Amino acid sequence: MKLEFLTTGDKSPTLFNRALNETYHSRHGARQESEHVYVISGLDELLHLDTIRVFEMGFGTGLNILLAHQFSELHQKKLDVTSIELYPLDKEIWSQLDFSKSAVEKEVFTKLHQFPWEKRSVLGTYFSLEKRNMGLEDIRYQSEFDIIFFDAFGPDKQPHLWTPDVFQLLFDSLDTNGILVTYSAKGQVRRDLQSIGFEVERIQGPPGKREMLRARKK
Ligand SMILES: C[S@@+](CC[C@H](N)C(=O)[O-])C[C@H]1O[C@@H](n2cnc3c(N)ncnc32)[C@H](O)[C@@H]1O
Repeated sequence: MKLEFLTTGDKSPTLFNRALNETYHSRHGARQESEHVYVISGLDELLHLDTIRVFEMGFGTGLNILLAHQFSELHQKKLDVTSIELYPLDKEIWSQLDFSKSAVEKEVFTKLHQFPWEKRSVLGTYFSLEKRNMGLEDIRYQSEFDIIFFDAFGPDKQPHLWTPDVFQLLFDSLDTNGILVTYSAKGQVRRDLQSIGFEVERIQGPPGKREMLRARKK
């Protein structure tokens, strides 16, 4: 897999996958996109829960999970995260990514990457993570999560991951009142999510993008 390093609009880095002609995050700002889509529009909605069970599609650079860890510390909220990734990044790549704003954050980022796959690891008082090296098409969870970070490459790049069949697997994975957040605001994605029973809101997108989607399992 040919990957290149880019600096985005908020000075945080991202990766560019040349074969797909797609970046891992918004070119307007990787960190601010992750913060807006997955923390502000996602986790912040679930502060009433004692423990938040998170499922992420696409561990990638680990940026979303770095911010999720920070959320758990900030709110002293228990977060149990499961993140799947079909193509884990080599150390040679992830060790060159610097998202961190402090030495502590850098240490957390390294730990998240060094945690073994297929095993739950604990970090501090509130946070645990299990990374799974598998494809989204193969998940079979039943009502196990409160939130899904749906962070696949775009629907035009990976159309097989944005189908009603895959959305059904995600719907089944969520517990009642669970939410799915994604940076995409595409009409077809919204309609497909609605067709399998999600209530879908179009909400304000991150800087550089007008809208994003938040879907709820009622
Ligand atoms: C948009 S990037 C995700 C970025 C990641 N959340 C982050 O913060 O860096 C999409 C990720 O999905 C992974 N991926 C692609 N196809 C997949 C599949 N079928 N199942 C699981 N992960 C997949 C890619 O390797 C990539 O890491």
